[in-house]
This record gives sequence, structure tokens and C-alpha cells, in this order.
Amino acid sequence: MAIIRVEEISNFVGQEATIQGWVYNRTDKGKLVFLLVRDGSGFVQCVAFKGDLDEATFDQLVRLPQESSVVITGPVREDKRAPGIPGGYEIGVKHVEIIQAADADYPMALKDHGVDFALDHRHLWIRMQSQWAVLRVRAAVIAAMREWLDSNGFVNMDTPILTPAACEGTSTLFETEYFDEGKAYLAQSGQLYNEANIMAFGKVYCFGPTFRAEKSKTRRHLTEFWMLEPEIAFCNLDGMMEIEEQMVTHIVQRVLRDRGPELKSLGRDLGRLEKIAPPFPRISYDDAAKKLKELYEAETDPEKKELLKFDWGMDFGAPHETALTALYEKPVFVYGYPTAVKAFYMEPWPGRPEVCKSVDLLAPEGYGEIIGGSERMSSHDLLLQRIHEHNLPEEAFKWYLDLRKFGSVPHSGFGMGVERTVAWLCGIEHIREAIAFPRTIKRVYP
Ligand code: 4AD
Ligand code: MG
Repeated sequence: MAIIRVEEISNFVGQEATIQGWVYNRTDKGKLVFLLVRDGSGFVQCVAFKGDLDEATFDQLVRLPQESSVVITGPVREDKRAPGIPGGYEIGVKHVEIIQAADADYPMALKDHGVDFALDHRHLWIRMQSQWAVLRVRAAVIAAMREWLDSNGFVNMDTPILTPAACEGTSTLFETEYFDEGKAYLAQSGQLYNEANIMAFGKVYCFGPTFRAEKSKTRRHLTEFWMLEPEIAFCNLDGMMEIEEQMVTHIVQRVLRDRGPELKSLGRDLGRLEKIAPPFPRISYDDAAKKLKELYEAETDPEKKELLKFDWGMDFGAPHETALTALYEKPVFVYGYPTAVKAFYMEPWPGRPEVCKSVDLLAPEGYGEIIGGSERMSSHDLLLQRIHEHNLPEEAFKWYLDLRKFGSVPHSGFGMGVERTVAWLCGIEHIREAIAFPRTIKRVYP
């Protein structure tokens, strides 16, 4: 008998098949027991008829607790009404092997749980349909971004997690003792190493966990998150924006193609995602600041007005990003931020040193910044000056300064936060659900 995965069940209509999984839900109707079984790849309804099974087995099914593990064999039928993901199929139970009848006191029973309770039981919560769907989308996002980069000439380089210095500012570093070498820090970004890598490989990316000892308790911040960081030699800001919009579009299309049932189960409005295609609108920080002023003037609710307050020179807060992106249906590029709100390594705008060649990509529907990037500073002397101004230890940056001495070229790169991207695509409220085991300032368990 073929052991099949629920995600490919449509290929087996009219045949007998075996699935291996767990009982997600059970409904008893006299001579019938309906089991909703999940196998990791999907959810399918299995219908047990008393007359088809011996009495002892049927009695066991009637009392089978949620999360019991089972192997079920029977005919696959199409039935539009059958619940599940993809849904529309059911299996008649001709044979069932109960691998383990689960304890009856399953903590994550199918009802609403408080967020803290759910997070304390994250190891079980990930089995729930909504969480499973989000994490399946995440895997597809990661596969799609690698696929796009790998087929467009980028070389995957892995950058170190233990590092001697800050990349994104000293205030959010996790530090650890490093043998006789003094302190080491968990990487906030692989960017600086990728700037070395491109001078050997041209176009590269790294993908890995990054760490920010961030005191922020917002729905957009984790202390450990996964970042994709492409870096490109001989590339300016415009060239980089083209790369970003191509890659983001590819990711959205792949997710729509391969994870439609998951997105639908989350109640996601697919029409919004189907609109994502190049070109994405590009506005300067100056224009964004003007638009925010207009929105501020137009706002009549005093509370909302207060949140929209904005002056040139400020970094955007979540309410600003939400208000700005509400003006567009696609993700929007905002370029040319004030130098003072950005990292030390950004190239100054020609003739306007108070502005830098940075660009953020803001996702629609209030999701805000999903990508941050810039053209990198090419002058050795200015870079050294910035390192001093930012109170960074020159010693730790000697190798980085070398890159400006031996064949320096214009180059650009960006970092895409995977959890924020997944939260946007899934339409979920908080990015902590976009990673299997989230780390926030209040949580390192489980
Ligand atoms: O804008 P950020 O800080 O940029 C950098 O780290 C650059 N060195 C990247 C580069 O140019 N190679 O972070 C990039 C992205 C953000 O746009 C956001 O999506 C995500 O990383 N991010 C976070 N995601 C979750 N929790 C946090 N605390 C995050 N901080 C940044
Ligand atoms: Mg940023």
C-alpha cells in the first residue's frame, strides 16, 4: 500500500492509500467517526464507519484523544464538503493502527488560548493549523529567496556569528567572554563580512540568525531573527532597488503558487498579494517627510495626530510607516534618509552630506520596513572618520578598512528580515508567530 502525503492527495482519488499522522480533531456521529488527521503536509478528513471495522477498534476510535498518532489506510474520495488543507478530499478508514493513544489532558486543545499560555506551549502550539500554515509559508519564503539568488549569479557565503565588533550600533549587542581574546559579540548582521566576500566573488548573500539586544517590545521586534543579506559589487542604489523588487516579487509569486491553501486557511486576502509586481514606487525621504506633514495636518483625531507628528531628521516610527504605506498598494522604497539616523557605513549623498544613500523597503498594509539597505561608503578616510565618530574600536575594523585600500568599488547591499516578510505575506499581527521558537526580551523558553 502506498504511503502518501496529504499535500499530494489529489493524485490518489479512487485508490487505496495509507497516511501516517496525528488526530487533530474528532467528531462522533453514532455509527460514524470523523477524524481530522494531520500528517505534517496537510490536514485530511478520515471517516470511520462502524460496519467496516471490528468492534474493539471502532470503540477505541470513538474515545481517541487529540494528538494520538495513527496510521490509516483506506480509499481516497473527492468530497467538496470535506474540511482540511488542501480540503475537498477524505479517506474511508478500512484499517487503522494506533501508534500511541495520547494522554487525554492535551494542553493545546482546540480552543482559544491566551498568548502567554500559547507561547509557553510553543512546542505544541506549532501543531495548530494556523501556526503550521505560517511556518510552512516561512519555509517557502526561504526556499524562494535562495532560489532567486542562486539562479541570478549570487554565491552563498556564510558569515560568522561570533564577531569582534558592532555592525548596526553598539547599543544592541549581546556579548560573551571569548577565551583569552576578551569579548566577542553575537552578529547583528553579516554585512561587513559580505563586503569582503564580494571583492572575491562579485555577488554574494548570507542567510542566518542575527541578534539584537533590543529593548523594543513591539510586534515587529525579536532579539533573534533571520536575515537574508545580499551584497553586490559595482552596484549603486538604483541597481539595488531593481534587485530587491525582482526578488520580492519572485518570493510572493512562489508563495502564492505553492502555499495558496495555507494562506487561504489564514484568511489572507490573496488579491492584495497578486498585485505585487515591479516596479515598486520610489520616494525620497524628503518627499515622505512632506507627505507625513500633510497627513498630520489632515488628521482630525487628536490621539492619531499626536502619533503622526514628524519633522525632517526623525526616523520613522511604526505609525509613520503605516500611514505612508497606506498610500500605496505595493511595497514602497523610501531612499535618502538623514545620515544621523542610519549606520556608520553608508555612502553620503553627493553634495548633501546630511543625507545618505540608504533605502528601506516598506511593506503595504501597515507591515512597515521589511528591507534595509544602502550603497556603502567607498572612501577610506571618510570611513575611518565615521568609525571614530561612532565610537567604534578602530582595531576591530582594520580588515574592513583594508577593503577600501585594495580595489575599492561602488557597492551596495541590503538585509531582508524573514519574520517580517512572513508576517506580511500571512497577514498576521505579530512577528513572533513567524518563527518556530521566538526569542524576545521576555522569552527564551521553550
Ligand atoms: O535595517 P537593518 O538593521 O539593516 C542591517 O542590519 C544591515 N546591515 C543589512 C544590510 O544592509 N546587509 O535590518 C535589516 C532588516 C530590517 O529591515 C528588518 O526586516 C529586519 O532586518 N530586522 C528585524 N527583524 C526582527 N526583529 C528585529 N529586532 C529586527 N531588526 C531588523
Ligand atoms: Mg533598518
